[in-house]
Parts: sequence; C-alpha cells; structure tokens
Amino acid sequence: MRTLFKNIKELLQVRDQSIAFVSGEAMGKLPTIIDAYLLVENGLISGFGTMDACPNFEVDTIIDATGKMLLPTWCDSHTHIVFAGNRESEFVDKIKGLSYQEIANKGGGILNSAKKLQETSEDDLYEQSKKRLEEVMALGTGAIEIKSGYGLTLESELKMLRVIKRLKENYPLPIKATFLGAHAVPSEFKNNKEGYIKLLIEDILPQVAQAQLATYIDVFCETGYFSVEDTERILNAGKQYGLQPKIHVNQFTSIGGVQVGVRHNALSLDHLEEMRTEDIEALKNTKTMPVALPGCSFFLGIPYTPARNMIDDGLPLALATDYNPGSSPSGNMNFVLATACIKMKLTPEEAINAATINAAYAMGLENEVGSITVGKKANIILTKPINSYGFIPYAFGTNHIETVFIDGVAL
Ligand code: NIG
Ligand code: FE
Repeated sequence: MRTLFKNIKELLQVRDQSIAFVSGEAMGKLPTIIDAYLLVENGLISGFGTMDACPNFEVDTIIDATGKMLLPTWCDSHTHIVFAGNRESEFVDKIKGLSYQEIANKGGGILNSAKKLQETSEDDLYEQSKKRLEEVMALGTGAIEIKSGYGLTLESELKMLRVIKRLKENYPLPIKATFLGAHAVPSEFKNNKEGYIKLLIEDILPQVAQAQLATYIDVFCETGYFSVEDTERILNAGKQYGLQPKIHVNQFTSIGGVQVGVRHNALSLDHLEEMRTEDIEALKNTKTMPVALPGCSFFLGIPYTPARNMIDDGLPLALATDYNPGSSPSGNMNFVLATACIKMKLTPEEAINAATINAAYAMGLENEVGSITVGKKANIILTKPINSYGFIPYAFGTNHIETVFIDGVAL
C-alpha cells in the first residue's frame, strides 16, 4: 500500500537522521521543505523531498496537498485520560477562588476521582476513556502516554491499567502506560501514609510489574502528597522491576523533586511551574526531559513553567496536555502549543519541536514518531489551507486540522 502526498505547501519537522531531542538554541530551528512530496509505504514514511525531485512513483493513492501543510502528529507525553465522570462540581468553587489544595481538602480533588473510579465498572471506564482517546486523536495526537493513579487500591489500579492495555490493543497509535499509584494517599490511609507506601511497594507494584501493565513509574512529589524521601523509596522500588521514572514535580512547591528525579535517571520531569535556579541547574547535561503543561497553569491560574528561561539556558523542553478531570480537563495539543507561545513566550518553531520530537522522547518513542524521517510511522497531520505554520498557535481558537493519518491511514 503506497500513498503519495504531493504539492505540500510546507513539510514540517523534516529530519534526515533520527535524533533524540533538541535543546536550547536548536529548539528555535524547525527544518522544513517548501513545495514537497511525502511517500508513505505500508504505514511508514518511505521518502520525501521537493516536488521538482519527485520520482514517478506507482502508488495506490495520491493526495493533493496544495496550499496545505503536513507535519508529524502531536505527541502527548503526559495524560490521565482514563478517569471516571468529571469534576465539574468543583468548577464553580474554583471560579469563586478556592485553590486546588482547598478543593482537595473539601473532599474534592484526586480522592473524589478515585471514589468515582472505584465505583465504575471496567467496561464503563473503557467506554468513557475511549471517547477521550478518539477526541484527542481527531485533534492531532498520534502518540500518547496514559497514567493510572485514580485507583489507589490494588484492584482499581489494576483496573485502570487494564483499560489502558485495552486501548493499546484496539487503537493504532502508540500508547505508553505509567503506574502512578503514588498520586494521593487514599482516605483509608489518611493517618497512615507509611501503610499506603508499604501497600504500594510490597503489593500493588509487584502485581503491576508481573502483569506487565506499565513501562514507567510516576509519583506526585509535592507538599501534602509524597515527600522527596517517599519518592526516593518508590522510585527505588520501581527500579527493581525495570520501571523508569516520569514524575510530577514542582507543581506548587520546589522541594527537591527535580533532584531526586535526575538522580534516578527520570525520562521526564513534568510540571515545573515552580523552578528555583538550582532546579534548572540540576537538569543541565542530563538525559531527563523537562515537560511543561501549560493547560494546567491556564486552568488552575498558577504560574507557567519558566520555559523561556529554561530554553535560553540551553535546556530542552517538551509540551503535554496533562488531560485530567481536576487540573486540565482538555487534551487539545493545539491549545497547548498556542498557550506555550502566548504565555510562555516560545516561538512557533520551539513549540512545534517541543510538541513533536521532544515529546516523543519524553515517552521513549523518538525512534517511532515525532519527525518526518524515513522509517518512522506515518502519523501525520494534514492542515487546512493556511499561510504559514505560525498561524496554528496564532489563531488559537480555530481547528486548522483537515485530516489526521495514523500509520498512513486517515482517521
Ligand atoms: O498533573 N498533580 C497531580 N496530578 C494531576 C491532577 C490530578 C487531579 O487533580 O485529578 C496533575 O495536575
Ligand atoms: Fe499530571
């Protein structure tokens, strides 16, 4: 099966050689080909170049992309899309000024979602979650990471992870699963966090690993949730089972989460709204990808990750949605790009690099997706006719996507 896209106004994120990620100044450069063709064979990218060098291929399908851009699909390396119901009931409290922590203390927050999830059947949870997955795919997401963490009991954590596995089996995009048992201390362990950590380490984690339900391990390392010491113990336990860390740090307070993550060779450190100089320093010359979640800052009204300073300081950066019912009830990567440009002062080139190649790296998929490279999956976005790629984050309320292709097949 061969498909030829021809007359592409501009083909974005073209990399001849597969690269891991881009950092600092290199983030400002987005390699493109103007007036291009792209050949897809059996779901993979098999060739590209300028139209005047386009060979006379024998193909099954030709798609004329005159006036339109073609780019790799967005990679969303941090989501919680497997959840039950929603938390709209907390929305007005939030509007009236209650903080994330105050809402949690009132019986809302993560424990509210955990209660709902525990009461929801696995089939129902799957049905609710698949709608969200289909929604974000239509918005251009072609690879995604999904976390557990609303179960908080052995049975419910396994239920969430089995739902993620079922999504993986039934949908064509790459999906990575992360075990986030340490998302909050459940009410049954209110005065016994140690008891919950023991349950996590000695009971839940071994069963998750044994059933091969997760690739990564996550901890909400935050004041009032899990301390640096708790995080250290949980990451050490995960390591015994080969689970690499991707952790929530510095969302509300900077307590040493970055340092513990870097020490444990985290693949990514996510949130980073509160960054001290030493946190930025700790990330330098590491293989750990900092991930900003501007949808969460937007929704909660908390500071944005100081991404401009971080990139100017030579760091790489990835962008993700954090799609979840409490702090970012949106999985729209187009909005994330716009917010990154408008609020965090990234250029469109930086934002596109952050949402494609760097985000692919942040979930271990840099050899499969994230750039237009021969041999990678043909997970691509065909835009509507637009003048330039900067128009995507600029005209932030409009859907610029005409068609999303996964493995070269239109959704
Ligand atoms: O990434 N901060 C921790 N976890 C999620 C929010 C979870 C929730 O409020 O349901 C986050 O923001
Ligand atoms: Fe999150």
